[in-house]
Amino acid sequence: MLPKIYVEDIFNQKCAEGDSVELKGWVYNKRSSGKVKFLLVRDGTGTIQGVLFKGEASENAFSVFEGLNQETSVVVTGKLAKAPKAPGGWELQVSSVEQVGASVDYPITPKEHGPAFLLDHRHLWIRSKRQHAILRIRSEVVRASREFFDQQGFVGFDAPIFTPNACEGTTDLFEVDYFDEAKAYLSQSGQLYGEAGAFAFGKAYVFGPTFRAEKSKTRRHLTEFWMLEPEVAYMNIEETMSLAERMITHIVDSVLKNRARELETLERDVEILKKIKAPFARMSYDEASDILVKESKDGFKAGDSFGGGDETILASKNSAPTFIYGFPMNQKPFYTKEDPARPGYSLSCDLLAPEGYGEIIGGAQREDDEVKLLQKIKEHDLDEKVFSWYLDLRRFGSVPHAGFGVGIERCTAWISGVPHVRECIPFPRMLNRLSP
Ligand code: 4AD
Ligand code: MG
Repeated sequence: MLPKIYVEDIFNQKCAEGDSVELKGWVYNKRSSGKVKFLLVRDGTGTIQGVLFKGEASENAFSVFEGLNQETSVVVTGKLAKAPKAPGGWELQVSSVEQVGASVDYPITPKEHGPAFLLDHRHLWIRSKRQHAILRIRSEVVRASREFFDQQGFVGFDAPIFTPNACEGTTDLFEVDYFDEAKAYLSQSGQLYGEAGAFAFGKAYVFGPTFRAEKSKTRRHLTEFWMLEPEVAYMNIEETMSLAERMITHIVDSVLKNRARELETLERDVEILKKIKAPFARMSYDEASDILVKESKDGFKAGDSFGGGDETILASKNSAPTFIYGFPMNQKPFYTKEDPARPGYSLSCDLLAPEGYGEIIGGAQREDDEVKLLQKIKEHDLDEKVFSWYLDLRRFGSVPHAGFGVGIERCTAWISGVPHVRECIPFPRMLNRLSP
């Protein structure tokens, strides 16, 4: 039977003092102080302190308590009491404790462990307070971003993972055998399919896992990450930036409202997040370039693409995220539309998060002219045949259109104030990590 009450319900004031409840969960920790026993119980939604007093808890509860270890699964009953000093402001005055499943020598103890050890035990690590908080924030980031688009009439439009073509360049493609037929590539981005969706539904969004065979070992790179990619017919680059900043403020507001406890667990400075309001600053590539020529520590020259350190410098100019727009054409993928007013430059934008989190969104207006697009496909040395369907979109009622992709883990890392994206996905895939 499902539990009737979760710890989260108690913390959200859905119960009253003196209520008798039954909690089903796991032992987070236990300790004794004289005759009183303390049992921290987590049920997946939160952790509450149980207290066993002589005379109130059963004899059996005391003897079961003695055999409990970290992560033993338990069913606990008792009465709720307000306890301002206890985590969450409540405690459970225990009457009975029943062991469900044993846990002997749980490998993750309250002492310090190195990141490799913790990542090897990721299947258990996710039960720890900090990881638990981060993944609950991630879930809220996904929920809020989908909600934002759903509320505005976007159609959720799932793109395939096996694809015959590259989207973001051929250097970091994962190739797989696709029966006897051909090679397939794991999707780097659902965007090209999202464009078909935009022409069919007006406004659509793709949400799914994306894959990059990135050899980069940085705190911002995963080989498998999740991306939400809206695509809209008749949208231009200014409207794209406006859509992106409205989405980001909706996500931040939702996390502040619905994940306050988790932000507190992570000791995130919420005052910084509360200041994030639209409109965000917009800086052209040229303005950014002028700043970096003076301030970059990595020897930036005009025309270069930004390194991680450069992004940190640019984004530090504002407390909210900063848009950089108008990148040189040679820095952007084949589908990016050239600015008719500025040959050599593109109608593109990146959104850089403050506090050193770097690019969280990449977006652009798409080339909508068949001849120019075909030329770009050739210039980028891509196989024209596999893009025939994509060119059809320019042959049958092409319109100006644009979209962007927000990286869920980068966004979660920034909002949570967690330095490394590997903690922002349940099971990270990186250069040297394929398990668990
Ligand atoms: O800038 P990117 O490569 O853009 C695209 O894929 C476009 N097709 C999106 C679109 O217009 N529909 O990736 C978009 C975002 C980045 O800003 C970043 O947040 C995230 O995806 N991202 C990564 N996150 C983790 N690990 C990686 N290796 C990432 N590469 C990109
Ligand atoms: Mg990008």
